[in-house]
Amino acid sequence: MKKYAITLLLSALCLTSFAQSRVNDRARWFVDSRFGMFIHWGVYSGAEGYWKGEKLRNDNDYAEWIFYRNQIGKDEYVKLLDRFDWDEINPEEWVLLAKKAGMKYVTLTAKHHDGFALWDSRVSDYDLGSYFKDGTRKRDIVGELAAACRKHGLKMGLYYSHWVDWEHRFGWNHERELTGIAPADYDVYWQEKVIPQIRELLTNYGEISMLWFDMWIHHSGTCVTRKQLLQLKGLIRELQPNSLVNSRLGLSIEEDADIDFKTLGDNHFGSTLEEIPWQTPGTVAHSWGYHSGETSWKSTSSLLKYLISNVSLDGNFMLNIGPRANGDVNYETSQRLLEIGKWLEINGEAIYGAGTSEIRNSHNWGKITSKTIDGKTRLYLHLFNPPLSKKIPLTGVSQKPSKVYLLADKQKQPLKFSHGGLLTEIQLPVVLPDNYISVVVVEYDKKPTVENGLATATAEGGYSLTYSNISSEKNLKEQGRKHEGTVPQHLVIDTPQTLKWKIFIPEAGVHAIDVSYSFQGKQAGGEITCTAAGKQLTHNIEPTGKTVGEPNSNWVIDRYLSHRLGEIAFPEAGVYEVELKIVTAKKSEVNFQWIWIEK
Ligand code: GLC
Repeated sequence: MKKYAITLLLSALCLTSFAQSRVNDRARWFVDSRFGMFIHWGVYSGAEGYWKGEKLRNDNDYAEWIFYRNQIGKDEYVKLLDRFDWDEINPEEWVLLAKKAGMKYVTLTAKHHDGFALWDSRVSDYDLGSYFKDGTRKRDIVGELAAACRKHGLKMGLYYSHWVDWEHRFGWNHERELTGIAPADYDVYWQEKVIPQIRELLTNYGEISMLWFDMWIHHSGTCVTRKQLLQLKGLIRELQPNSLVNSRLGLSIEEDADIDFKTLGDNHFGSTLEEIPWQTPGTVAHSWGYHSGETSWKSTSSLLKYLISNVSLDGNFMLNIGPRANGDVNYETSQRLLEIGKWLEINGEAIYGAGTSEIRNSHNWGKITSKTIDGKTRLYLHLFNPPLSKKIPLTGVSQKPSKVYLLADKQKQPLKFSHGGLLTEIQLPVVLPDNYISVVVVEYDKKPTVENGLATATAEGGYSLTYSNISSEKNLKEQGRKHEGTVPQHLVIDTPQTLKWKIFIPEAGVHAIDVSYSFQGKQAGGEITCTAAGKQLTHNIEPTGKTVGEPNSNWVIDRYLSHRLGEIAFPEAGVYEVELKIVTAKKSEVNFQWIWIEK
């Protein structure tokens, strides 16, 4: 048996090495920054999601879409600017808020889909310069923000809606889906507005570190041609070769290796590593532009978790503010940003310049980021869900750490831990330092060796073996949760299947094993066999029947039940394979959910 465990351990040991293979020099600052501010502010901010008493005509409540959604005339729309309190509006305050929030860059909607330029544009009269043409004031929000960014040491990015423009006579307006647009006409818009405005933005405001375009589908599905996009990108590379360009330009990364980073969908957070730098644009509530009817504010801890989770997969997070027409950032937003800033003041080391660790085994107590300082590897364990036991199991590293401490502890007082094989178990103090997410630093003198592909011990103790953490090939399709999660994720099995997992057992011991499934046959039929440590447990599949998913709702669903398979003795510490064979009775299917190995 000893030999069996050791062979398994050795054969499974592998040094994974992952680094984003395509971070170009231009994007280095971006990758190191990790956290930025998006600002959606424009004419629409004067409407706050309502037009002539009517709420925005779309449940998605994107307040910056009101021009299009509520069919507002171009001249009437721009009168919303009369509601603005120009004495109060001060873009420097947004930059100061970004700084306090620990954000390292700011991206302003210089021109959104409404086509209105927030600067004095010589090539369009749908701009701030024209609004103030009577000479009462001179305001250029792009210029003011650029000056504030320079003053306070933040990078400046500009959002520019290139594809969609509801104002220009030949711009893309979605109603053209009914009529189409002649390519030559669209090119008039491109040559007389897009190209010269980008030229203005890249000529008159000093360094622009990022251009953020917004074509959320591939250009082949739009009226924009590849030639036009390459012309636009060529101009950027010519005028400001260091400026980053995002993937919503509309060219796929496969098609153009020169795209600097990938933009995920709105509020879409990362789930896998990407080859190139990437970013989630996200909101504190839902709308981007200020919407006075907003109610669903995300909590500070969820926003922090989004940031940390993205960094743990080498991604960035750009969090939006939608200031009001008097420049104010509402309390819900500013408070959350300030709280995030306080967290970063203490825990920023685990975010800035940090990225993914090589540990791919997922741990249900939280996420891991990592960094190398003076040849020493630091793992940062972000405790989303600190175990009641006050013990954090970290599975997958064979080296013993040289130091373990809380990032919030300036004295770096060592935390007690035990280490054996692939498990490091850290003892937490009774009181954790952070109200939101405390971070434990695990330091190694040299780069540790990592074993991946393991189903880890959960924070509650025990191992939950599901389809997501199998070590054998994933060739089945898992069914997602249904009926509001009353039907859990499961695999539908109708032909014999074998699933395998790898677990690390830290010491010899006997463990009880349960399996959860649903079987709708009338009588018992088919068999489940679980094999581990050379022992086999067999179970006859039994009907599990139905249950009521929700009281008084005529809501009847398949029942999933946990069955005890028996106990298995693991003779010593080591990596073990757990194999599950499911053979169903003829013409029947069983829905497999999980195996639970008790601690
Ligand atoms: C979408 C919306 C737009 C918003 C953007 C932010 O593309 O059309 O209103 O600016 O997402 O990511």
